[in-house]
Formats: sequence, C-alpha cells, structure tokens
Amino acid sequence: MIYTVTLNPALDKTARVDRFTLDEVNRISDVREDPGGKGINVSKVISKLGGQSRAVALLGGSVGEKIAGMLEAQGIDVWAFEAAGETRTNLKVVDPELDTHTDINEPGPQASIAQLDAMREALAEKLVEGDIVVLSGSLPKGAPVATYAAWARSCSAAGAKVFLDADGDALTRGLDASPYLVKPNDAELSRLCGRELSGEADVVAEARALVSRGVGRVVVSMGGAGAVVVDGNHALRARSPKVEVGSTVGAGDSVVAALAFAEERGMSLEDATRLAMATGAANVMQSGTQAAERSLVDSLMDKVTIEAL
Ligand SMILES: Nc1ncnc2c1ncn2[C@@H]1O[C@H](COP(=O)(O)OP(=O)(O)OP(=O)(O)O)[C@@H](O)[C@H]1O
Ligand SMILES: [Mg+2]
Repeated sequence: MIYTVTLNPALDKTARVDRFTLDEVNRISDVREDPGGKGINVSKVISKLGGQSRAVALLGGSVGEKIAGMLEAQGIDVWAFEAAGETRTNLKVVDPELDTHTDINEPGPQASIAQLDAMREALAEKLVEGDIVVLSGSLPKGAPVATYAAWARSCSAAGAKVFLDADGDALTRGLDASPYLVKPNDAELSRLCGRELSGEADVVAEARALVSRGVGRVVVSMGGAGAVVVDGNHALRARSPKVEVGSTVGAGDSVVAALAFAEERGMSLEDATRLAMATGAANVMQSGTQAAERSLVDSLMDKVTIEAL
C-alpha cells in the first residue's frame, strides 16, 4: 500500500478574474475547488496512473469534511485525523487576460506535538513490510522541524520505504533518517548544500554524496530540463519531452507519485524514471491543479530520453 501524508492540506479555490486589479472590486467569472496539499496531490496523480493510495491527512471543520468527500468521490481512500481548527482555503486568482497567477494562502490550523505523535504512531502500527510512505509538503504551525525525520524513522522501522519531498530544515533533518528516496529540485538541493550548484556534474556529485550518507535513491528534478537520478549502483540523466506548458504547479508532486507507483509495481530504475518524466511533463501541460490522464502520460513515454552517466 502507498500512504501519502499531508499535515497541512488545503482546499484550493481557483478563481478566474479578468483584469484583476488591486484596490478595486474584482468579479469572479468562474471558480473551481480542488483538494490540495502536496501529499494529496500525489494521491490524485497515483489514482490517474491507475494506482491506489491512502491519503493520511490532518483535516478539520467543514472544509476538512469537504476535502475528504471530494477525495472519496475520486476513489481515493482517506484516513483523516482531526485537526485543531478549520482546514485552510488557498485562493488562486487566475487572470487569463493579463496572464497573471496570484496565490493567497491561509496558514492553516496549528498542530500539537502530541497530536502529530499520535498520528505517526497510528500510521506506523498499520504499516507492513514493503509499504511506501510519501512525506511531502510544508509542515503545519506548531510542528517541530524534525517532524519528517521522526516520521521517517518510525515508518522505516516498521518496514516501509519512505519517500521524502521537503525543503529547508525539514529536508536537512529528514536526511538524517536515511529515507529510501528523496526528490529535491535543483534549487532545494542548492539550499541543502549551502551553495549554488554549477551545472549537471555538480548536481550528480551532490546527489552521490547524499547516497553515500545513507539515502537510498536521489532524484533531483530540474524543471523542463528533466532530472538526475542516483542510487547505490546507477546514475542516470533523464530528459523530459518538450511540451506546451499550462501550469508547472505540482510538477514535482507528479514525479513523486509516478516514482511511488513504479516502486510498488517493482519497476526498474530506468522504467520508473521514464514514467516519472512522462508524468511530470503531462502534468505541466494541464492548466490547473487537475492531474493528467494516463493516456497522455503514455503518449509521452517514448519522448523521454535516458542516458547512463
Ligand atoms: N517546462 C517543463 N517541460 C516539461 N517537463 C517539465 C517542465 N517543468 C517540469 N517538468 C517535469 O516535471 C518534473 C518536476 O519539475 P520540477 O523540477 O519543476 O519540480 P518541483 O520544483 O519539485 O515542482 P513542485 O512545484 O511541484 O514542487 C521535471 O523533472 C520534468 O519531468
Ligand atoms: Mg517540489
């Protein structure tokens, strides 16, 4: 089973406003709501690829209930834990005329250490050997920076493969727990190293350094340029197909979803990488936060190139 964890989920409200103007009354011409938060996005993409996952999430109030209902309607199994307040709503104002995208994000409710510990223990108790746990996204207020490190240790001890997609201190501390896979983008890897990385060779060297520190597999995504993938035996350079870009929001989540889906099916590193790049590219072709159809992903598979380094 694949479990995704979302500690700070959101209802993403995308509002179309033509000629969005500050200091004026703006009228919404179209609005859509989608369940969001990085772990939840990963679950949505896994579902489109034809897989199953359980979305473990801290959800609160009527917005929390709405998110759970929407996910269940999409066939995604939800394991909800009661948040201490109403789940946040994130407003995305899209202006097609001026071609602007403005995000107005709420902070979300505070989480207590006791609540996070209880959630972590409940999950670890359910895990069996070979399960996959995806830890991704920002931490809620009140969560210690070592939250993902603690979760990674508990889940690994229970036999699960931990996939970590985080930034800043949450990533730095999470690495100490030797996750099975990490997926920084190039900017996150630079921040982790404390210096600007100069080109592909530098990225590969730093990814190798993480593997020698105990991370099983390092996937460094590089936007339209593709990714570098390193494990104990291989280093690959993958190039994504050139596509028409709708929105790059959630591209990384799509890659993580495909990697988890591929791992569960026992795919080789090369096949998993190819699927991840096709899934990433298919998802950037979408205009909003909706996940791409599997047929589109399949049509891009042959256009991914992979070279051994
Ligand atoms: N412009 C693009 N053209 C084609 N593929 C793309 C493009 N941008 C992203 N991708 C695909 O998506 C993958 C992940 O993108 P990126 O490195 O931007 O992730 P990220 O920064 O983690 O994104 P997120 O905002 O979801 O955290 C890339 O490796 C690539 O396969
Ligand atoms: Mg990312």
